[in-house]
Amino acid sequence: MADLTTKIAGLTMKNPVMTASGTFGYGLEFADFVNLEEIGGIIVKGTTLHPREGNDYPRMVETASGMLNCVGLQNKGVDYFCEHIYPEIKDIRTNMIVNVSGSSPEDYAECAAKVNALEGIPAIELNISCPNVKQGGMAFGVTTEGAATVVKAVREVYDKTLIVKLSPNVTSIADIALAVQDAGADAVSLINTLMGMVIDIEKRKPVLSIATGGMSGPAVKPVAVRCVWQVAKAVSIPVVGLGGIMNAHDAIEFFLAGASAIEIGTANFIDPTVTVKVAQGINEWLDAHGCQSVGEIVGQLNA
Ligand SMILES: Cc1cc2nc3c(=O)[nH]c(=O)nc-3n(C[C@H](O)[C@H](O)[C@H](O)COP(=O)(O)O)c2cc1C
Repeated sequence: MADLTTKIAGLTMKNPVMTASGTFGYGLEFADFVNLEEIGGIIVKGTTLHPREGNDYPRMVETASGMLNCVGLQNKGVDYFCEHIYPEIKDIRTNMIVNVSGSSPEDYAECAAKVNALEGIPAIELNISCPNVKQGGMAFGVTTEGAATVVKAVREVYDKTLIVKLSPNVTSIADIALAVQDAGADAVSLINTLMGMVIDIEKRKPVLSIATGGMSGPAVKPVAVRCVWQVAKAVSIPVVGLGGIMNAHDAIEFFLAGASAIEIGTANFIDPTVTVKVAQGINEWLDAHGCQSVGEIVGQLNA
């Protein structure tokens, strides 16, 4: 049995597999199907300072080997989270991580400060890469200045592990990663969804209510692996890789590209137990290849 223990800055995980934000609710919704405590980390739904309704329906559509969504960060706001959700999840013995989003550096920071006060939340993932909201979201994540401004504002008020989630919808994701590292990020996670569009040819209209949406699932995996490889070469902080991971084989690709941990998103909709199966599969692959620990293969690509 290989050692799957993984450290991401101040965060220690029993294995390197986390759930991706927006695809696993608050974990509780999946508790009947999977033992949450066997998952390395659970990144909960996108959380904002104020409640958000999200976008109109339709906001999801299937594509070849993937899907598009434009949910638009629907959530009841951070105060509701602190009062009603946190008490329900704080004693689950895994790392519960909050995905924080906002419309301005100030409201990102205010939201992060409220989560900082919660003893049972050891890390946040800062979403500067959501393509489905009008204000903020991806707007900050597509320039080095915008990304650095938000990260600096949050770093001032947040003293636990700060993971910054990057957008692939940029010219150089490595430049954005370097900017957030310099601004105080402890780790980066990538990728968020790729901007896409599907058209109903009979109606001659976009299928999604806001025309475009974020693409995820197996079809995006080669893009995500390429991004992880480029970013891991550029930064000195840990990289968390995600995008299209369906099984342990996919996860190993991300480790070789330079990811220290991974997240699984869309695959949870197909198999709610996929995270635990992937953790087991990583272990089997490491054993079969004579590796003592997952850390041994991180970045070990012959390229
Ligand atoms: C329905 C849905 C909702 C999402 N909501 C969020 C969110 O609130 N915050 C965020 O950072 N990413 C969100 N994402 C993006 C995922 O966390 C992940 O980055 C992306 O789907 C790629 O991984 P995957 O191919 O494994 O799904 C969402 C994705 C989907 C499919």
